[in-house]
Amino acid sequence: MFPVETYVERRARLRAQLSSGVLLFLGNDESPMNYAANTFHFRQDSTFLYYFGIDQPGYAAIIDVDEGRTTVFADDLTLDDIVWTGVLPTVAELAARGGVTDTRTAAALDARVQDAVARGRRVHVLPPYRPENKLKLFRLLGAHPERQHEAASLELVRAVVEMRAVKGPDEVAEIERAVDTTIAMHLAAVRMVRPGMVEAEVAARVTEIALAAGGQLSFPVIATIHGETLHNHDHSHTLGSGDLFLLDAGAETAMHYAGDLTSTFPVDATFTPRQREVYEVVLAAHLAAVGACRPGVRFRDVHRVSCRTLAAGLKDLGLMKGDLDDAVEQGAHAMFFQCGTGHMLGLDVHDMEDLGEVWVGYQGEPKSTQFGLKSLRLARELRPGFVFTVEPGLYFIPELARRWKAEGKFTDFIDYGTLESYLGFGGVRIEENVLITEQGCRILGAWRPRTIAEVETVRAHDH
Ligand code: GLY
Ligand code: MN
Ligand code: MN
Repeated sequence: MFPVETYVERRARLRAQLSSGVLLFLGNDESPMNYAANTFHFRQDSTFLYYFGIDQPGYAAIIDVDEGRTTVFADDLTLDDIVWTGVLPTVAELAARGGVTDTRTAAALDARVQDAVARGRRVHVLPPYRPENKLKLFRLLGAHPERQHEAASLELVRAVVEMRAVKGPDEVAEIERAVDTTIAMHLAAVRMVRPGMVEAEVAARVTEIALAAGGQLSFPVIATIHGETLHNHDHSHTLGSGDLFLLDAGAETAMHYAGDLTSTFPVDATFTPRQREVYEVVLAAHLAAVGACRPGVRFRDVHRVSCRTLAAGLKDLGLMKGDLDDAVEQGAHAMFFQCGTGHMLGLDVHDMEDLGEVWVGYQGEPKSTQFGLKSLRLARELRPGFVFTVEPGLYFIPELARRWKAEGKFTDFIDYGTLESYLGFGGVRIEENVLITEQGCRILGAWRPRTIAEVETVRAHDH
């Protein structure tokens, strides 16, 4: 946890931004994997961690904006519980570490909420994402689970987003710790991959490093020779000579701040000529995008720079043609780059995505519905303290190529004949975690190989 003052100050700042009412925060409960006693690893809600620092299941809290009172609701362990969990700090102790002295039982939450409702007071809640909390909100407020997103308080969502979006130095240090563990995971993978291995061996090694550092993974590992499948969690393939390996993996610190990096490298010691060409295009887009990141720039424009650079490289390879500004404007490049250039990073790997992308990444402006652009999670103007990913890529998706070709789509911009010879190539992504500073930006974490020469040097050293 951070020092107690951090949580006290955060809650005071939040309270000052809300006009009136009570702010109801639901922490997460244990979540069953296949039966009640066999649970997923417990993960606390990130907003609950941010304002209360309590990393245990079964907690809720209320900040009363008008009375200035904060209460934590949870039950102390019974002797039956302790048999299974061991002795843990009491509710009062955990609340006090975050500066809250008023604690009540879990059951007392119902009466408190009912009292607020009966007096016509506004109960502000965030949009729930776990079934357990949807049911609790149904019980407490009568809001049907399918309508709870509309019932969530925009005033609270906006205030929380604006606070969590700007990372303080303590948070940046914690994210950088996560990134450094993540880099160790990636270095291990770059060093170990050989023809004949199975993807699962790489996934296991990087998971080991995350766990040994004292935290968990920040999202399920992507360790694949089919990098063209964006969220490919299958680890069953055997690596062959000539394959390209894509690792997208990240660690969380014990405090749950996340890292999120992607490395792409050959299964052989060196890149093939075609792998080099495609990698260079992605690296150029990556460098151009990072070069464009500074306060006051809209990330929508960073994304445009990244798409425009990818398109220029694709034209050099004979995969795209025509006027590239038009091609990017119309979305033709999305044949090769189907997603966004980045997303916020913090306590969540896609930071605050539960609060709504349109608030986190767009400040309420509508998102595009265009294929490709609609997957851009961050578009807003960058401010010092923002931490996000920069992750352009090129993905050769056979099914997409087949369908667009059959539809005659973007024939002015895409050379389908040349594209045919790239199907089966896989995908390349280069992902870094970036902090906006007062003057510009900084890539977080220690050194890791990014250029072809650097990757090949690390590979050669261990071959
Ligand atoms: N690791 C998921 C992503 O890069 O967004
Ligand atoms: Mn990633
Ligand atoms: Mn990412």
